[in-house]
Amino acid sequence: MHTTPMVYTNNLNLDLLLASALPVLEPASKDAATISHLFLTVFLICLAILFVVVGLICVSLMRFRADGSRLPKQNFGTHRSEVVWAMPPVAIVIALSVLSAKVIVSDEGGAAGDAELVVVGHQWWWEVRYPAAGAVTANEIHIPVGRRVRVRVESADVIHSLWVPQLGPKKDMIRGHPNFVWLEADRAGTYEGACSEFCGDQHAWMRFIVVAEPEAQFKLWLTQQARPSENPPSESAQAGRNFFFAQSCANCHAIGGTSAKATAGPDLTHLASRRQLAAGLLDNTSANLTRWLKNPQRIKPGCQMPNFGLNDTQLTQLVAYLEGLR
Ligand code: CUA
Repeated sequence: MHTTPMVYTNNLNLDLLLASALPVLEPASKDAATISHLFLTVFLICLAILFVVVGLICVSLMRFRADGSRLPKQNFGTHRSEVVWAMPPVAIVIALSVLSAKVIVSDEGGAAGDAELVVVGHQWWWEVRYPAAGAVTANEIHIPVGRRVRVRVESADVIHSLWVPQLGPKKDMIRGHPNFVWLEADRAGTYEGACSEFCGDQHAWMRFIVVAEPEAQFKLWLTQQARPSENPPSESAQAGRNFFFAQSCANCHAIGGTSAKATAGPDLTHLASRRQLAAGLLDNTSANLTRWLKNPQRIKPGCQMPNFGLNDTQLTQLVAYLEGLR
């Protein structure tokens, strides 16, 4: 489940470490379960091999210690020994290949066709589109519980990889070469996802969440996301809006219902409805949004959002406007 991102702390949190290692063993879909079983099967086979090898080494060490008095019997060119060495590993490799191939085929998303959801990887955030509904958002995917959603994955720049350990396989996101994958959750909840292909400085902070909710709730969310933005609720927010368009914000960001239509940065139409900022780095609160706008380069060094050197009044107004984008 979703935990608060650790920012500016460096004490080792064992719970968090375990929680981030366990998702693969807590699958929430059929596809993820087949991967989980494969992982466990391979792990147990490897563990058995480890025990056999370590056991043989220990026996040899104890029986033939280097006192020079007892050398083991030396055999050269024995056909039988070579067959005994070679056959079990070959059998194990074939068995592992067959098991893996079966899982790969069963989780395959196909090579073409329609997709309900399009996810585009950017350095370092996720563009999320629902073409039929006309909704665009970022870093937060919603899906209905219990229904397989076909996802087309693409990239706007380098190679990324979409991965939600509890929901399914990884899928590479390649510019000019769309790939397809299924997302499905058996139970409602929030599932963490991450980029699993090294894509630059902030690869580690290219995260997202998948919110699986009942179909009716999902439809409601989708309808809301497809709506244009609302007018600023207060004078301060109005000032923030003016500031947004006076600055170069609109060169990179889109806000539905306004003249801002750029797609280089995340769509902000319903920014305030999202749970996190900066692709999973911060919880979406006023304080964090202010910190982010004050100097994005300090929080996520190397990201595409420049430091505009805003003063406190500008920050307050901009945050008032962005927080009204529900
Ligand atoms: Cu995108 Cu790693």
